[in-house]
Amino acid sequence: MRLEEHLSGCEPDLAKLILKIADSCKTIKSGFMSRQSCSDTENVYGERQMALDKWADEVLIADLKASGLVKYLASEEQPEILEFDSAGNFGVTMDPLDGSSLIGVNLAVGTIIGIYRGNVLAPGNTMVGAMYVLYGPLTTLTYTVKKGVHEFVLDASGDFVLQKENIRIPDGKIFAPGALRKEYLPGHLKWIEALEADGYKIRFSGSFVADVHQILHKGGVFTYPGYQGNENGKLRLLFEANPMGFIIIQAGGAASHGMGDILEVIPVKVSQRIPIYIGGIKEIDLIEKFTMEG
Ligand code: AHG
Ligand code: MN
Ligand code: MN
Repeated sequence: MRLEEHLSGCEPDLAKLILKIADSCKTIKSGFMSRQSCSDTENVYGERQMALDKWADEVLIADLKASGLVKYLASEEQPEILEFDSAGNFGVTMDPLDGSSLIGVNLAVGTIIGIYRGNVLAPGNTMVGAMYVLYGPLTTLTYTVKKGVHEFVLDASGDFVLQKENIRIPDGKIFAPGALRKEYLPGHLKWIEALEADGYKIRFSGSFVADVHQILHKGGVFTYPGYQGNENGKLRLLFEANPMGFIIIQAGGAASHGMGDILEVIPVKVSQRIPIYIGGIKEIDLIEKFTMEG
């Protein structure tokens, strides 16, 4: 079944928006070969942008502006929320290219999207949908509109075709731990040691979207915690934590900042960072217990 058919029961404008983003991602994928270099600019987080970061950002901004469906667009690569004079009222958040340090070594990277009605400076639990496209050996698209989590694969004729419907996160013993061990906070260190003692294996690639995708299919937990000197961690609430957390929760998992549900956080600024724990409920319950104990 093609993505278009799968979305036929969905609210028509939301379906159109998801299809439009799917098309933009096909365009992004087609540009990998000629955009392997580093640019000479930095984004608002002080990170050097890759040519592909900038181009993916431009493709999505142009396509979403032209769609007439989107009023507010927040991008990891833009300092402010963009506002379009549009008939539609969707708000979209995007990490146009996640994992961009891996572009030069041909490992999986992706595009992460959150969809709201109206402004995007709102808690993640007000999202109406979320999706990501993973550019790996295959290009896959995973989406939810709060009716299950479904995965599609880009076929040779350029269609996203259904690969797996109603994905549920299984039990599993992998963990993807970001940050430096010597800078872990006490509750986090205790939790990591508990996972290790329980036989969890490390799987951390440097691409959040790819690591969470693996956990969606194999179980376990991804974390980029708060750490000494950076209590809010590295990853971004609007662009990374909320959309991927939303998808994992729809698949039966959990998403926490260590002391509660990420999706309940009211953002105060577009570039807000947050400690991240995303994965199985039992791993998330355990970190919350350890964090509360201090
Ligand atoms: P982005 O490429 O969008 O800037 O995100 C990179 C993120 C995330 O994908 C990954 O989990 C994390 O940065 C890796 O950070 P470290 O290099 O500190 O491990
Ligand atoms: Mn990212
Ligand atoms: Mn990015």
